[in-house]
Amino acid sequence: MKKITSVLLASALLGAALAGCGGNNNAADTGNKANTGNAAATANSGSAAETPKVGVAIYKFDDTFMTGVRNAIDTAAKGIATVDIVDSQNSQPTQNDKVDLFVTKKYDGMLINPVDRTAAGVIIDKAKTADIPVVFLNREPLPEDMKKWDKVYYVGAKAEESGTMSGQLIVDYWKAHPEADKNGDGVLQYVMLKGEPGHQDAELRTTYSIQAIEDAGIKVEKLAEDTAMWDRVKGQEKMAAFLGSHGDKIEAVLANNDDMALGAIEALKAQGYFSGDKYMPVVGVDATAPAVQALQDGTMLGTVLNDANNQGKAAIVLASLLAKGETPTKETVGFDITDNQYVWISYKKITKDNVADAQ
Ligand code: GAL
Ligand code: CA
Repeated sequence: MKKITSVLLASALLGAALAGCGGNNNAADTGNKANTGNAAATANSGSAAETPKVGVAIYKFDDTFMTGVRNAIDTAAKGIATVDIVDSQNSQPTQNDKVDLFVTKKYDGMLINPVDRTAAGVIIDKAKTADIPVVFLNREPLPEDMKKWDKVYYVGAKAEESGTMSGQLIVDYWKAHPEADKNGDGVLQYVMLKGEPGHQDAELRTTYSIQAIEDAGIKVEKLAEDTAMWDRVKGQEKMAAFLGSHGDKIEAVLANNDDMALGAIEALKAQGYFSGDKYMPVVGVDATAPAVQALQDGTMLGTVLNDANNQGKAAIVLASLLAKGETPTKETVGFDITDNQYVWISYKKITKDNVADAQ
């Protein structure tokens, strides 16, 4: 917040100085950028008060994918909102305190990535009482909570879609590589690394990935499943345990996100995988930078792009419009709005053949 305020201030001063130069072309350029979403230009073209203040609470800063979304929010906010981005430290009570603070500070809008999605109802009650519109992100509130107020929106991606795509990555590999059936029993023996239980992305990716494999006519046998809470270190520990009990019986590893997949790859490397002809197909979701690197290295088979840039952008544009009292439309948001309250960002399958699409 402090940083943003001082950047705005510095920009305003710079703008004023340039404007003072009379016929200076740069000054004109700076002014024109007001329409293209430049913070400096907005501060320059009128009072800074025109930019609505939006309080943003992320479930925890220490999450690879959400860090990407957070950076996207910060970037896309330039010129359309003054953002105060805070860390809820994976604690719902902490997040509720942050929301109270946003209300006390009389912010014009809120953008919330809930710690516990079932707590959205309480946040909506607070927002409605204070008449501060709220956009939820990444963790989908329950439908009954979304119905509490029309100034509540959700920006996210269809978890089912990412599940189906990650299953299809395994299907493509299995069909192209008969040797993938290591014990030759015609059944795919797999292990599953699950995200946080109760999170729509963890539950639905787990179900739909296996569904996609079965829909392709492949028989499956689950050797093990455990949660690694989206975390790389936990992913490595759980995978080491799976290898300890099932060893080379494992024929595929499905992880609900890239960090856990990367942890699994570490555990596999420690057992000699990815050298010589010892290979294991591992799939994740997100397409984070380290995952893209692993695709290029040939350790990760595939992932699914969870579009942090567009999720962050749609969320802050929506929050800014609502904060200004406008009713968002497809034209003003730049994304389709479904059922008056939802913006869905598409996923995309990524392998080493199309990594550029994720970069
Ligand atoms: C998911 C993402 C995970 C994690 C989680 C946090 O969409 O795939 O990596 O960031 O959100 O809620
Ligand atoms: Ca088999």
